[in-house]
Amino acid sequence: MSIQFGAPAAIEALALSKQFKSVRAVSDLSFTVPHGSITGFLGPNGSGKTTTLRMLLGLIRPTGGDSTILGVPFGRIDDPARVVGVVLDSRGLHPARTALDHLRVYASAIGVPDARAGQVLHLVGLTDAADRKAGVFSLGMRQRLALATALLGDPQILVLDEPANGLDPEGIAWLREFLLGFARSGRTVLVSSHLLREVEQMVDHVVIVSRGTLVHQGSMEELRTAHRARLLVACSDPARLATALAATGVVDTTHLADGRIAIGGSDPGTVGRVAADADVTVFGAATEHVDLEQVFLAMTSGQYAAPGSAVTPGYGPPPPGYGAPPGYPPTQSPPPQPIQPWFGPTNGGGPR
Ligand SMILES: Nc1ncnc2c1ncn2[C@@H]1O[C@H](COP(=O)(O)OP(=O)(O)O)[C@@H](O)[C@H]1O
Ligand SMILES: [Mg+2]
Repeated sequence: MSIQFGAPAAIEALALSKQFKSVRAVSDLSFTVPHGSITGFLGPNGSGKTTTLRMLLGLIRPTGGDSTILGVPFGRIDDPARVVGVVLDSRGLHPARTALDHLRVYASAIGVPDARAGQVLHLVGLTDAADRKAGVFSLGMRQRLALATALLGDPQILVLDEPANGLDPEGIAWLREFLLGFARSGRTVLVSSHLLREVEQMVDHVVIVSRGTLVHQGSMEELRTAHRARLLVACSDPARLATALAATGVVDTTHLADGRIAIGGSDPGTVGRVAADADVTVFGAATEHVDLEQVFLAMTSGQYAAPGSAVTPGYGPPPPGYGAPPGYPPTQSPPPQPIQPWFGPTNGGGPR
């Protein structure tokens, strides 16, 4: 009987490090990109994402460590364009060349038929722009043309560095649908971003880095489960409610400064019944809003909290009293949703 070994990971980084003179851009970084996944490679600006991708793709040599693509180092892949499609930077397009010509040049460089140029333009929805010069393309169109170039070899894996950068919500939605379709065909995507929010709806796995080191990897589902929203309850006797909940196995309870009790791992119906049975009157309950972007910022906050760090310290912390820029999450937890009226036990027990 032969033992069946599982297929190698799509991409594997093993203790990768990169030192640029005094800057340690990547430090002992190991992670796995599972087959068929859309893995988000996330970290603030300057956290070593591009450097890591360049090492994975054999564009720069690591100071230490190794990496493999489908089980082999990039440099040993026979026909790389058919294995990995790459978009590292969409600014390198020749402005005077039409979209179709641009693709034909690359098609001939990697030895695929001319006809493939038209096919990939169609895949990224740029057929109508085939004869327009790349110099007049919007950022979104340039990103799509770069993606088309990466698709020329019909690769098994796509590696995209900040493809959502500068895209409007419509462009991000398009990219999401595109990548989901690509992954549904059994292929794999590694997509970097400095904002979890930008890629939250398109990735199913995450690798989170801060200052060149791994801070978290796992499925998006695990991340969501680990940071599930809590129920915030105002009631007549929080201590009694906590004791009653603990007796039913709900032990994730925290007494808040405002007198409320925060309850994790339960639901309003159960809490209402337990409160009623314990003769605790519930005045109101609200679901705490958990923004995964907050979780991400907390995980990577070391990036901003290291004065004198060898790594470029990003923008540094905002001065006190400086509000979040528009469209960014606030630095504290957002206020909970308004308290919902809720019948206490004297009104028949349980939530409405
Ligand atoms: N060629 C280079 N020479 C010197 N330092 C570099 C070079 N490339 C990147 N760095 C530094 O390495 C760190 C990580 O950069 P980078 O990998 O581009 O991060 P990210 O893509 O996450 O924004 C930064 O401090 C950056 O300034
Ligand atoms: Mg980068």
